[in-house]
Amino acid sequence: MPRARAPLTVVVLAAGQGTRMRSKTIKLLHAVAGRPMVTLALDAVAALRPSKVITVVGFQAERVREALDGHDSDFVLQKEQRGTGHAVLQAAPRIGSRATLLIVNGDLPMIRPSTLRSFVARHRRSGAALSVLTTELDDPKGYGRVVRDANSRIARIVEQKDASTNERKIREVNAGIYCAQASKLLPVLRGLRPDNSQREYYITDAVERLIRKGEKVLAVRHGEPEEVLGVNTRQELAHASAALYARKAENLQTSGVTLLDATRTWIDPRARIGRDSILYPDVIIEGPTVLGTGCVVMPGSRLVRCKVGRDVEIKDHCVLLDSEIRDGAQVGPFAHLRPGSTLGANSKVGNFVELKKTHLGTGSKAPHLSYLGDATIGPACNIGAGTITCNYDGTHKYPTTLAKGVFIGSDAQLVAPVTVREGAYVAAGTTVTEDVPPGALAIGRGRQRNILGWVGRRKKK
Ligand code: UD1
Ligand code: CA
Repeated sequence: MPRARAPLTVVVLAAGQGTRMRSKTIKLLHAVAGRPMVTLALDAVAALRPSKVITVVGFQAERVREALDGHDSDFVLQKEQRGTGHAVLQAAPRIGSRATLLIVNGDLPMIRPSTLRSFVARHRRSGAALSVLTTELDDPKGYGRVVRDANSRIARIVEQKDASTNERKIREVNAGIYCAQASKLLPVLRGLRPDNSQREYYITDAVERLIRKGEKVLAVRHGEPEEVLGVNTRQELAHASAALYARKAENLQTSGVTLLDATRTWIDPRARIGRDSILYPDVIIEGPTVLGTGCVVMPGSRLVRCKVGRDVEIKDHCVLLDSEIRDGAQVGPFAHLRPGSTLGANSKVGNFVELKKTHLGTGSKAPHLSYLGDATIGPACNIGAGTITCNYDGTHKYPTTLAKGVFIGSDAQLVAPVTVREGAYVAAGTTVTEDVPPGALAIGRGRQRNILGWVGRRKKK
């Protein structure tokens, strides 16, 4: 019987501080396209369905663990950051001797699962003890250089800081992604010496050591350098975000979404948008937001973790947070949906209207200047301009309920808790403090007096 294929164990290196970021937050927690960089590395490796993922943490370990909550990973602590070789060794007790190891630097947010998959497959076919993913860069500064021998086989990797002038001219660099037979790599890592300018245990030194032991080491050149760029500085952070947003925009365009200016539209890679939707410039879509088909989002609007149906129109400058907007609804301009709001089908929320934890029923309208908080509004209601729910007494929040077909005149206040029943009217300028029965008119405002000739008399004084 053939031997079962070696299980795949992934080690993600995420213990470093990232001093070149000049930040009190470690590098791997900085967001790339809206998410902590380290989560992107973990997403990419998860797509390979490995039998085990081990993340090596060190600086701000608790925060890294939190950021990775929901990812299937073990964690090991590297108390002192003594280099990438040392980091891998911290995971050694959890690595089975038969395992195929995939080791990935945590600062590679652009890496694609397909690249990792074919790299692992290539390594397995080759029978090499260690494979290194490499790429050629026009500007290789800062990377480890791949030194090849006379037969153009990899001989060793030399770090920028330890490289000679000639070695620095080499454009082929180490991408920071390795595949290895655990049983061959780990003993070699145990024998590493920190005899380099940074006094660190370099994983990259394993290349030369394995070759010296007569083991096969493979350098697999990757044709898309963009994908394996490491992020070490704020400039590279911005570049990585831009690249991921551009990739997302490209995918959306291919699937039938119109972006009036793709370079000025920021769409979270996790978002889904239906075909024939149109996004104007300066639209920001964050989190796993979903938009249906045929939607229009106009300039300056930001949607965060929203669920939007079909044929929804979002006009200019709206802020929409953790809310649901059903088919055919219209929002904005200048509307603010705070978390927990729902707009029913074909409903309308207009200029300078704020909703908080409010459900607006099918076909209901709040077109101008309102605050609606903790309210449940039935279908076919009309909320006049300037309507305010007074939902807070300084200590507690109270609900407002409007049944089907309620009409609220302009500039009304609804002092919660209060209910307006089916088909009732509230006169403009009324302060509603008691429930309104079905079909009734609630009116409560000072009576108007006209004082004849008053203006003329005043002017004479
Ligand atoms: C590393 C490689 C370099 C390669 C480059 C690719 C080494 C010695 N050098 O350099 O050849 O071209 O990546 O981007 O490996 N880390 C730990 N513990 C440590 C040190 C680092 O977990 O003690 C983690 C970091 O958090 C980071 C990753 O390892 O995610 C790489 O470390 P970094 O300092 O960025 O290495 P580079 O200098 O970029
Ligand atoms: Ca790096």
